[in-house]
Amino acid sequence: MRLDKYLTQAGIGTRSQVKEYIRKGLVMVDGRTEHRCECKIDETLCLVSCQGRPVGFQKMAYYMLNKPAGCVSATRDQREQTVLDLVKDTGRRDLFPVGRLDKDTEGLLLLTNDGMLAHRLLSPGKHVPKQYLAVLSHDLTQEQIAILEQGADIGEAQPAKPAVFSWQDREKAEALLTVTEGKFHQVKRMFASVGCQVLSLKRLSMGSLVLDKTLAPGQYRPLLKEELESLLKLTKLEDR
Ligand code: URA
Repeated sequence: MRLDKYLTQAGIGTRSQVKEYIRKGLVMVDGRTEHRCECKIDETLCLVSCQGRPVGFQKMAYYMLNKPAGCVSATRDQREQTVLDLVKDTGRRDLFPVGRLDKDTEGLLLLTNDGMLAHRLLSPGKHVPKQYLAVLSHDLTQEQIAILEQGADIGEAQPAKPAVFSWQDREKAEALLTVTEGKFHQVKRMFASVGCQVLSLKRLSMGSLVLDKTLAPGQYRPLLKEELESLLKLTKLEDR
C-alpha cells in the first residue's frame, strides 16, 4: 500500500495533509524518515510513525526489550512493575511478552501483538533454542556438565531435553546454556540438579533473535526488518 494512503486510512489526516507531513519529513518508516508519498509499505510488517508517534493502524508490532531484573513478565500486576510498564510510549495497548522470564532474570524479551508468532515460538514441539548467560555459585566438573548436556533430572516425569553448555568465563563461573524448553525456572532447576546455584541469569537469544548489546536494561526498540524476517522464516510464517 502507498504510504500516503496508509496514513490516510489510519486516520492521521486528509490525503493532502498526510502528503504534507511526509514532505516535511515528519513520517518515519522502520526508523528512517520517508519523503516519498508513493513509497510502498507492507502494512503487516512496517513500523510507521508520524511526528514521533506510532501509527495505530499497524496490525502487527514487534519490540525487543532488555528486561531488567525486578519487573515481572506480565501484562498487568497490582503490585509489581511489569515489562509493559516499560514500553508505555509505544502508544500500543495490545502488546504482550512472548514467554516469561523470572522477576530476577534479565535480558531478551520479545513484545508483540502477534499471537501466532508467539504460539510458534513457545510451542514445546517447535524446540526453539534459547541461550542464557548464568553466573553460577561455583565451578562445574565435566561429569556435571555431561548431565546438563545429556538431560538433567529436574524433578519431572521426563528429564530435561539435552542442552548445549559452554563456559563464557570459567574463572568467574559464567556459563552459557542453550535450552529448547521453557519450563518454570528451567535453567535454575537444571543447574540445581547438579548441585549448583544460579546467582544471576540473562537471556541472550531466542531462536534467531539476539539481544542487542546496545540496549541497557529497561531499554527497548522495534525489531529490525531483517530480525523480523528471520523470526517469521524460523516459524514458517513468512507467507501468512
Ligand atoms: N530459566 C529460568 O530458570 N528462569 C528464567 O527466567 C528463564 C529460564
